[in-house]
Amino acid sequence: MLIKTNHDGFCHPLSSEITPQRVYAGRRDLIKLMAGGVAGAALTAWALRAAHAQSASAMVRPGKLAALPSVKSSLAGAMTMEKLTDYKDASSYNNFYEFGTDKSDPVRNAPSLKTRPWSVEIEGLVKKPARYALEDLLKLSAQEERIYRLRCVEGWSMVIPWVGYSLSELIRRVEPLGSAKYVEFVTLADPKTMPFVGSRVLDWPYVEGLRMDEAMHPLTLLSFGMYGEVLPNQSGAPVRLVVPWKYGFKSGKSLVKIRFTDKQPDTAWNKAAASEYGFFSNVNPNVDHPRWSQASERRIGEDGLFARKRKTLMFNGYEAQVGQLYAGMDLKKFF
Ligand code: MTE
Repeated sequence: MLIKTNHDGFCHPLSSEITPQRVYAGRRDLIKLMAGGVAGAALTAWALRAAHAQSASAMVRPGKLAALPSVKSSLAGAMTMEKLTDYKDASSYNNFYEFGTDKSDPVRNAPSLKTRPWSVEIEGLVKKPARYALEDLLKLSAQEERIYRLRCVEGWSMVIPWVGYSLSELIRRVEPLGSAKYVEFVTLADPKTMPFVGSRVLDWPYVEGLRMDEAMHPLTLLSFGMYGEVLPNQSGAPVRLVVPWKYGFKSGKSLVKIRFTDKQPDTAWNKAAASEYGFFSNVNPNVDHPRWSQASERRIGEDGLFARKRKTLMFNGYEAQVGQLYAGMDLKKFF
């Protein structure tokens, strides 16, 4: 990734860029969230949910964007109890190169993105190719809230309550052929609304890819929202991918095409620097980036001189869920 390096090799926010968000811990929100989470649950599950609801309630914002109601996911691994990243940080410290290469560019420049009308085309090796209008895609399956860690290849991470459903729900509907081995994700490249699409920083459109089993894994999320609201433009509105065990760049934003193929897709960052950004890009503390270590990370929001770095976890902490996908693979070779 074209990274502005400072003294320790990572691209860090200036503390002045990160303004802690006001905490909204209203009792009404807590009751509302708990009511959604506890009905019929066993006591231990209740305790977990209540604790989660408490942390989630601290993040509820006075609806700036349209609400996107969801149920809390019961999928193993889909919820972490870690403190959520402030909405303000998650929506103002972004990588979205179509809107500029600086972390503060997307929030400033992405209001020009037009997210309606929007459709996603499904093509390639499938029985049922289709063009889904966003409204139909939104209704295809129940929206869930999942609290995922997202770890950027640059060495920072966030914890975000995403809203969406497993990509596998969509994939099953379109019936991939047996010959489909990979899924390619193509994102919008509109020079009229995306000021940096004219630049040579990447080969546009931004393309990402997954192996079919990765795309079908229930943790792979097709996301339409975060923090209980529709996605802000800079976070990949109106629909993006979130693949929590891979470095953040695998999570393509503002998707327009999902293509099933028998060949490993040429992905944007792999094309830009193949020795630095492999196709798999699983979070792996044991495989360094050629220019820096991947053994630790900074959690956005935990700033300050004495803020400790966290150890980066294998597969970003999702090893129990996804480790099997890579059994027997040399992860140094297939990085
Ligand atoms: N998708 C598109 N279309 N364009 C991009 O530049 N950047 C990627 C990924 N998806 C990117 C993209 C990178 S490098 C990261 S780290 C994540 O989005 C950042 O997501 P966030 O801004 O929501 O944290």
